[in-house]
Amino acid sequence: MTVQSVLDEVRERPGSGEVIPVIDPATEEQITEFKDAGPEAVDEAVAAAKATAASGVWSGMPDYSRAKVLWRVADLIDENADVLSELESLNAGIPRSQAKVITAVGSEWFRYYAGWCTKVDGIARSVNTGGLTGIESHMHAYTLREPYDVVGLIFPWNGPIFNYCAKLAPALAAGCSTVVKPAEETPLSALVLDRILSEAGVPDGVANLVNGFGHTAGAAITAHPDVDKVAFTGSTEVGREIVHASASSNLNKVTLELGGKSPVLIFDDANLDLAIATAAFGCFLHSGQVCMLGSRIFVQRSIYERVVDGIATVANNLQLGGPDEEGSMIGPLISQKQLTRVMGYLEQGRAEGVELVTGGHRLDRKGYFVHPTVATKIDPSTSRLFKEEIFGPIVTVLPFDDEDEAITLANDTEYGLAGTIWTESLGRAHRVAKRLKAGTVGLNCQLQFDHSMPFGGFKQSGWGYEAGKAGIDTYLQSKTVWAQM
Ligand code: NAI
Ligand code: MG
Repeated sequence: MTVQSVLDEVRERPGSGEVIPVIDPATEEQITEFKDAGPEAVDEAVAAAKATAASGVWSGMPDYSRAKVLWRVADLIDENADVLSELESLNAGIPRSQAKVITAVGSEWFRYYAGWCTKVDGIARSVNTGGLTGIESHMHAYTLREPYDVVGLIFPWNGPIFNYCAKLAPALAAGCSTVVKPAEETPLSALVLDRILSEAGVPDGVANLVNGFGHTAGAAITAHPDVDKVAFTGSTEVGREIVHASASSNLNKVTLELGGKSPVLIFDDANLDLAIATAAFGCFLHSGQVCMLGSRIFVQRSIYERVVDGIATVANNLQLGGPDEEGSMIGPLISQKQLTRVMGYLEQGRAEGVELVTGGHRLDRKGYFVHPTVATKIDPSTSRLFKEEIFGPIVTVLPFDDEDEAITLANDTEYGLAGTIWTESLGRAHRVAKRLKAGTVGLNCQLQFDHSMPFGGFKQSGWGYEAGKAGIDTYLQSKTVWAQM
């Protein structure tokens, strides 16, 4: 497949709904378009998934054979890494070198979960019990781990290849059949990945790609009576809608990864050069459009000015540009919609009296580029800039006096995805890690994430876990079988 053939193919895909343009966010130019799938296409996709679940063509395949197919998917992702990373750059504005890394991470998710296919175990026990009958007898009891039949997988636009792999790999390893909806902004790489699944030997009907808007195709999946589970990554607002849809349809099980407003705590005994460089990268990466970035930095008062200056200096030196521009480290925001949203927060911040030490404006060029922005002098109890997930290159930096105040500020958020602690004190590092209300904590490191370790949010950052063993458990249900001996 070539980039051009994907641009052509997405245009030809069937659909009954509105025509949706695909925009290159670095140039604001339309690169192709596609049709919203419409409710009939979602019905067809769900029916195909249901049929494969009933036939057992995937869930009943020997586990070592399923593992081989997933390993082959990983190899094919590597073989197609050039076209995948080019599409990722073109469609999501991600610098090419970073798009290559994301593609390689995606293939490793398939390899990791290929390994899990052969390691899904239940438990077995011999029990003397009568249960509720009261007539005690000898029982053999065991559990079966069974995949959900039909799983709806709905992704955001901020890392299309990664999101695809992080959900498909464990869902397929578990033996589920799936209906897959990428974000309307980023339909391209999913088309290649879908093709790769077929080529690797995933049977037809097991992974059913549908394209379209959230309120049409996405909503049709979440409300469908034959969808047994929905796994979603995106906004908290849509997360709530998915829970409502589940409650008012068939109570399908829901897993949510909903982003955050993660704190970074820098204590006065930290390795400051490393802390500043990492914290700056850790809030501006991908123009702030990554769920686990550290968008609220708190600094012990004695080093506050130095850290603000240091982060502002990095912000001013970060080179923004299109994915293939020489030296570009940060790309554009994904869309005009996201640009409008980010500029709205900046305007509101100015009205609140927030000081923008640097940034605060879009770049004077084509593309949805916003200058990395450092905001100070914020009232944490009222500022929306401080409280809400923005998904733009905006970081707030506030001072604290002692450990207790740092923890109170850090935890004063409805989110709980991640947190970072910079200190050379071993005791403080672990003490504060224990008190942070977050699903991932970095001690003198940030943005650590791997397919082998569970990832999920406290509070309104989500329901359930992805990655590691927990990541495959998400797609399995447990059945307890009692046998009278
Ligand atoms: P969104 O949550 O609306 O979109 C994410 C996905 O959900 C897309 O595939 C979309 O089509 C789908 N969707 C939307 N409405 C749906 C519905 N009613 N039922 C089923 N699926 C639906 O995110 P949006 O509007 O693009 O971005 C707004 C904000 O959301 C961002 O500024 C950011 O704060 C947050 N966000 C967080 C992400 C994360 O990784 N946690 C990813 C994307 C956005
Ligand atoms: Mg939305």
